[in-house]
Amino acid sequence: MPPRFLSGILLCTLVSTGSAQTVGSDPATRAYSPRCAPPLATALYCMELLPTARAENAAAVVELGRAASPFQVAVTPAGHLTYELTAWIEGLPDPAELGPYTTYVAWATPMALDPVLRLGPVRNGENALGRVALNKFLLMISAEASADVTEREGPLILRGRSPSTRIEAHDMLAQAPSAAQAPTRQRADTTAHTGHVMTDDHAATPGVDPAGWTPPPMYPGLAMLPGVMAVRPAVDPLRVLPAGIDPAALPEVRPAQMVELPDGGTLDLEAGFVRRRIGQQQLVMLAFNGQQPGPLLRVRQASTIFVNFTNGTPFPTAVHWHGLRLDNRFDGVPGVTQDAVPPGGSFRYQVHFPDPGIYWYHPHHREDVQQELGLYGNMLVDALEPAYYGPANREEVLILDDLLLGENGITPFGAQAATHALMGRFGNQLLVNGEPDWALDVAPGEVVRFFLTNASNTRTFNLSFTRTAEADAAAQREARMEVKGDVAYQTLPLKLVASDVGRFEREERVASVVLAPAERYVVEARFPEAGRWVLRNRVQAIDHRQGVFFPEERTLGEVRVSGAPTEEDHAHTHEELRAHASVVADIDRYRHRFEDAPDHHLVLDLQADSLARPVRDAMLYDRVYANPVEWAGTMPHMNWASTAREVTWILRDAASGLENMAIEWRFRVGDVVRIRVVNERDVFHAMQHPLHFHGQRFLVLSQNGAPTENLVWKDTVLLPAGSTTELLLELSNPGRWMVHCHIAEHLEAGMKFVLEVEER
Ligand code: C2O
Ligand code: CU
Repeated sequence: MPPRFLSGILLCTLVSTGSAQTVGSDPATRAYSPRCAPPLATALYCMELLPTARAENAAAVVELGRAASPFQVAVTPAGHLTYELTAWIEGLPDPAELGPYTTYVAWATPMALDPVLRLGPVRNGENALGRVALNKFLLMISAEASADVTEREGPLILRGRSPSTRIEAHDMLAQAPSAAQAPTRQRADTTAHTGHVMTDDHAATPGVDPAGWTPPPMYPGLAMLPGVMAVRPAVDPLRVLPAGIDPAALPEVRPAQMVELPDGGTLDLEAGFVRRRIGQQQLVMLAFNGQQPGPLLRVRQASTIFVNFTNGTPFPTAVHWHGLRLDNRFDGVPGVTQDAVPPGGSFRYQVHFPDPGIYWYHPHHREDVQQELGLYGNMLVDALEPAYYGPANREEVLILDDLLLGENGITPFGAQAATHALMGRFGNQLLVNGEPDWALDVAPGEVVRFFLTNASNTRTFNLSFTRTAEADAAAQREARMEVKGDVAYQTLPLKLVASDVGRFEREERVASVVLAPAERYVVEARFPEAGRWVLRNRVQAIDHRQGVFFPEERTLGEVRVSGAPTEEDHAHTHEELRAHASVVADIDRYRHRFEDAPDHHLVLDLQADSLARPVRDAMLYDRVYANPVEWAGTMPHMNWASTAREVTWILRDAASGLENMAIEWRFRVGDVVRIRVVNERDVFHAMQHPLHFHGQRFLVLSQNGAPTENLVWKDTVLLPAGSTTELLLELSNPGRWMVHCHIAEHLEAGMKFVLEVEER
């Protein structure tokens, strides 16, 4: 091989096309991609284009780059991942050599080859191809007579498939003995299962099965391999309500009440059992002060309040004040900042609010159980700066959750260790402010400022306000098909204003909001005329058994617009997008650090060697493809059966090799550090992680090499599978602070460490 072929990509391409001798004779046109290094066979953000017989020496690598988005993952309102494509092409001959052609043109198309989207003319070297938002797609490059062709007419020269086309159907594994064999306990005829028939697991053993478990409900319309259905968690089910307590005697849950607290004010907060009805089910849950969500605390920036917390639950617990840069002693992390508050015990918190915005509180002990059962609430911190936000007719605080409900109530938790350790506990009952049917009435023309918090254990939302009823029916019909484009909903434009720890540098318009666990976003919407806007979560889920994407659409609630138009019309100011010089100036102090080499390098990894064999077998598809964000819980059974005993999620300090709680990071107040976080692609089950830093704030500088265009201070960042994210962490607050994944089950499965910040 000639020595000038130094690019590993080229080597890989050449070997696979078998035309090494003649390719790339002109070094000036050599295909080269800085971020797409081999092996490309399992890469999530790169694809290789192979030549046809017409131009055997041509080769190309295409990067699926991060499309500009204020969120860590760019998606359409329907949930299609959106990529900015760049092609590095080499070896294209003069098109005239191939026939009556003058140019090459690139095209993208879903697997059904319809429609074919024109990406534009290309040549040897680097080519920006623009955006593509398709679940599975082909890229084609053809020779054409004119650069203006709108449909492909000329011959195909290069083509390749998106990484998502590699998803493997679990049915491929049906030959594996561990996947197919049903133990005697499972009497179902395994050959009778199709993709749309539920397994007979429930029917064979109604209610509780011999291991004492009630398995989680199946995902509607999807089945799992029979061998997987027989697996049970390697722990006992947790008994939530102590013997002797009559559920009927528990207080009925109440909705959250707003509590305005002055500087120096005190709140009594008690965690305890409540009774609540959802649908036909009478449930036993937990609540703060009998409310779900817990009381909404409204305070002023720079104030300090006191919270007398009492633990009326049978579990050790503590209250963490998420996102606040408060005094470390009151951060509420058992084993790090305090001892767990035992059942019947109490603790007095002193809670300080240095930053305006929306924050939340939740337990930091068996979060997978206690948060799921309803222990969470918001804190709304009013800014000292006047006109911090633009004018609005009303403010609504929405905390989102998903509860896992089976036929016999809430799916049991693991006693000795958390269940759902692989993907986290996806719920099936979406809740807004604890309500299955959240609704808001507004007058036409009203501008509403929404403060959004994701309190679910693992679900990442993609939220939008959409209509109409007719479109609903169309979506139902398409529900099981590969989607060619977005369902034709009308989507209400949203103005994105702020996130975890303050405002963006400038407001911008978005069509949907991507909200990972623990993240917050503040958006404003104007409801123009009478009608009904449905708050929806719309994502592209994967049917793993068949290896296909399908749209998952869930309704969270609705805004009903009726009556006389508002007299206080903010249409004008709502149209404006403000820039915030004070936010820019605050960040300016650190801009000279943006290009620095990382001071620390974290790698996200997974160890899952002792998983049950059928689960291991069924998950091997991840070797070829992992969804950058696992949006939906479409593998409920095997996910449930994996516990924190077999699964260890890992944060590794690359420099020392130390992992999780063994990591020792020491800083001083005033330090500003660059951190590179690599969410390892090549692990047994790559998935996203919302990484949270306690007590500090940070900037997300870039992801996969693409700089963030509009910065905002964060405390939690969504790290898609296989991504590399650059952070700038400001150490402003002394103490011992947790860093962890905010998927509750990943936290339980070890994904955490403590960083220490000393006084200067
Ligand atoms: Cu919501 Cu450790 O945090
Ligand atoms: Cu995680």
